Amino acid sequence: MTEKIDEAGTKILSLISHKFRTPLSIINGYSDALMNQKSTEKMSAFGEKAVEEIHKQGNHLAYLVERLIKFTKVEEMETKDIVKTPLHLRALITAAALEILENVEGEVEKRGDVLVKGPVTLEISCSGDFSFMGDENLAAAAVGELISNAVKFNLSANKNVNIYCQRHNNNVSLSIKDNGAGIRPNEINKIFDKFYQIDEYFTGQIEGWGLGLPFVKKIMELHGGMVSVVSDKGLGSVFTLTLAAS
Ligand SMILES: Nc1ncnc2c1ncn2[C@@H]1O[C@H](COP(=O)(O)OP(=O)(O)OP(=O)(O)O)[C@@H](O)[C@H]1O
Ligand SMILES: [Mg+2]
Repeated sequence: MTEKIDEAGTKILSLISHKFRTPLSIINGYSDALMNQKSTEKMSAFGEKAVEEIHKQGNHLAYLVERLIKFTKVEEMETKDIVKTPLHLRALITAAALEILENVEGEVEKRGDVLVKGPVTLEISCSGDFSFMGDENLAAAAVGELISNAVKFNLSANKNVNIYCQRHNNNVSLSIKDNGAGIRPNEINKIFDKFYQIDEYFTGQIEGWGLGLPFVKKIMELHGGMVSVVSDKGLGSVFTLTLAAS
């Protein structure tokens, strides 16, 4: 029963987000054009401010809609829909890490296995053969969500993220450890629920949908893998993805 309601909910979300897409892209197209004209056309101070705000909020809304579309698409997928190829954890992590770092100000510095950009230091300890069969786009997206959270819910001046791979019998795992806000024990189970976000006073952030972790969980289910977390308030977090080794 709950599954049926869930399914209907996902369909409605998918429909709404698709309906929003076209009008939003028209609004954003015009606001882009107005932003470009701002320096040449005479505009009142209020007009300029209004255009800037419409542009900023329009782009944020488009980002939220695109994320919702991405999420609902994966929610509707079944294991038979994914195309698996041999993937190497190290390559996957490095690509996902570089993509997340694009949103951090500064220049990327690469020191061996360590990537530094602005306040973020990412250490990747994953040499060796850690491979599995998976859908490249989905697996990279899952790793990206976890790295993004490790940086986002982190109020430390130096945001340190350690990513390491391990092999246990027939499984490979990758863990993402951060020195961020941590998660209270009573919230650990809830963070994998759709739209659940811990209040901003605790984590310093409430942007987004609260869909990143349910998305990661679904991607792991599609792969026959799992996601787990060890965390506590003020002690940072370790999120681990476990998959069958190939
Ligand atoms: N590494 C982390 N450290 C501390 N809190 C975390 C961490 N990862 C997730 N959380 C908490 O779990 C909540 C759910 O995470 P999730 O990724 O699903 O959503 P989000 O990041 O808030 O939004 P979205 O991923 O949709 O942009 C977050 O809002 C945050 O409160
Ligand atoms: Mg997230």
